Amino acid sequence: MSLLQLKDVSVSIGQVALLDRISLSVAKGEILGLVGESGSGKSLTALAAMGLLPLIGGRITGGAVAFDGKDMAAMTEAQRRSQRGGRIGFVTQNPMTALDPVTRIGAQIDEVSRLHLGLTRAQARARTVDLLTQLRIPEAATVANAWPHQLSGGMKQRIVIAMALAGDPDLIIADEPTTALDVTVQAQIIQILGALVRDRGLALLLITHDMGVVAQLCDRVAVLYAGRLAEEGPTAPIFAAPGHPYTRALIGCIPTEGMAKGTLQGIPGTVPGALTFPPGCRFHPRCPRAQAVCATQTPQGNPACHFPGGADA
Ligand SMILES: Nc1ncnc2c1ncn2[C@@H]1O[C@H](COP(=O)(O)OP(=O)(O)OP(=O)(O)O)[C@@H](O)[C@H]1O
Ligand SMILES: [Mg+2]
Repeated sequence: MSLLQLKDVSVSIGQVALLDRISLSVAKGEILGLVGESGSGKSLTALAAMGLLPLIGGRITGGAVAFDGKDMAAMTEAQRRSQRGGRIGFVTQNPMTALDPVTRIGAQIDEVSRLHLGLTRAQARARTVDLLTQLRIPEAATVANAWPHQLSGGMKQRIVIAMALAGDPDLIIADEPTTALDVTVQAQIIQILGALVRDRGLALLLITHDMGVVAQLCDRVAVLYAGRLAEEGPTAPIFAAPGHPYTRALIGCIPTEGMAKGTLQGIPGTVPGALTFPPGCRFHPRCPRAQAVCATQTPQGNPACHFPGGADA
């Protein structure tokens, strides 16, 4: 059964419709990669899943979010709050915004397990040191006494992951957890996060724009474009034969080993903003396969494309 399920979720901020009928689900023990270029709606989807849209003035205008089979809209704010941090752990893109600069890092992690698991100070600290050790932080007890500014970016991001794990969640939502870090550190942290999630049988919703990470780590992948789902399904078949031209284009952007520096090709053009979404398929102005129908009719189904599969002409 799916732990997190979004069914036809639409989201607006003010009068602007930003997400259009997004459906996805993450089962226990499963890693779902949510991908798409900058501005495609990944973070909004994560906020919708956590019931945090009001923080940015957004709201769900259609569809439903269910956690463990329960409709989130039917919960009280107090129930949603205890679910976040408790059953759902969140890892943000920027560790500096997630950490309190004037509190020692151990105390910040302790607080999560004291609040959500009811541990004593001593129990919480033992759990914190254990978590830091599992995140392969050397001299964890000493690091627990450090201040955030004393740690490197990669170390800080591990602390944020420890905080997300401290409440013993069933689901982790990680929004581009490594973009602020250099490439080798990124790879290490993703690997550690993946291993911890696998060991504990947790569910992970991993937001990234790195299709290489998806190929390596994720069981399933959901591809977003301009606020709509382009394609969703198990990773291996989608990488072997992408149905949506946008998925194909994203896969084509993965740098391959031995590729000369500077040959990395992006997808020509940019993601349209919500005020300039084109009619029909929103990808059609950039699509090598577009026909007349693509500019007038919104494709339905999975992949959401009038001419799915096959090679580009
Ligand atoms: N607070 C906001 N007010 C107005 N528009 C917003 C707000 N937050 C996001 N948007 C718009 O919603 C769309 C999707 O944004 P979102 O942050 O979900 O993208 P993303 O896929 O997470 O991008 P990135 O990879 O850059 O993090 C964008 O067009 C963005 O401009
Ligand atoms: Mg984002």
